[in-house]
Amino acid sequence: TGKEVYANCQGCHGPQGEGNPPAFPPLKGHVESLLRAEGGRTYLLLAVLYGLQGPIQVGGQAYNGVMPGFAWLSDEDLALLLNHLAAWGAPQGFRPYTPEEVAEARKTPLAPEEVLRRRQALRLP
Ligand code: HEM
Repeated sequence: TGKEVYANCQGCHGPQGEGNPPAFPPLKGHVESLLRAEGGRTYLLLAVLYGLQGPIQVGGQAYNGVMPGFAWLSDEDLALLLNHLAAWGAPQGFRPYTPEEVAEARKTPLAPEEVLRRRQALRLP
């Protein structure tokens, strides 16, 4: 299940996705704003697949850490995980992630710094 795959995340982001500021940003209550942004759905997938490095702001709090990528998880497990995050809050009409979508994203490997640039291109609230 997605909750089982989330075991890989909770050491940093907390069992309930509450985060641990100022080191680790919350996911619960935050992922929805990523999903609402244009391009945010793809960004969320890329951040989990390839990791993220560099300065970001979440809920008015600054973070500047390194998150490892999880490309070693299967396409199926990554889709389950992303849908688990979306179950905490997603815009109306949200389409569940599919393993095919994850497989597609693997075709263009990105460094964590490049994932940061993708984030900077989003218009986040
Ligand atoms: C950032 C999800 C595992 C540390 C993020 C972001 C997401 C995310 C979506 C970006 C938030 C944003 O752009 O606003 C996940 C998921 C994980 C996971 C789903 C499990 C597969 C981990 C682990 C660590 C970690 C294990 C610690 C070793 C961080 C850090 C950031 C971050 C430090 C902020 C990076 C920066 O400051 O640029 N995580 N994460 N994450 N995550 Fe994770």
